[in-house]
Amino acid sequence: MITIEFSVNDKTYVLEVDPRERLLDVLRNRLGLMGTKEGCGEGECGACTVILDGKTVNSCLILAGQVHNSVITTIEGVGNRQSPHPVQKAFVEVGAVQCGFCTPGMVLSAKNLLDKNPHPSDEEIGVALSGNLCRCTGYDKILRAVKLAAEEGKQ
Ligand code: FES
Ligand code: FES
Repeated sequence: MITIEFSVNDKTYVLEVDPRERLLDVLRNRLGLMGTKEGCGEGECGACTVILDGKTVNSCLILAGQVHNSVITTIEGVGNRQSPHPVQKAFVEVGAVQCGFCTPGMVLSAKNLLDKNPHPSDEEIGVALSGNLCRCTGYDKILRAVKLAAEEGKQ
């Protein structure tokens, strides 16, 4: 076991962990942050996406031993029902959510894109979301939601 210190959604945690424990399990099982989903468990679907030191990563592929001194944002740190993030608002407005399983990862990928590039091209949105799979929506409404959030950010 090792001790790691890291920040999640602006809160600092010091935890004893098995360094081989997956970040996904640390977030869900140790910190109770259930918004991060497990789909494939092998880096294919993006349901487990979080922002780690400014980059989107698949938390099922990151080990606890790798996140010492890191800064992490999960969907719980992005917005909530009372105060949704503009990307979340746009997803609802456009109807880009069906079963919702992919949505936390999609929102985190879109948020990270817009934080770095507030006016992305369609191609840039496609590239940013390319690691996030959705079985329900056919992607069109998701792309429209990200564009809407970008548009609203201009005002
Ligand atoms: S659960 Fe991590 S990429 Fe699918
Ligand atoms: S809304 Fe169901 S997987 Fe995307």
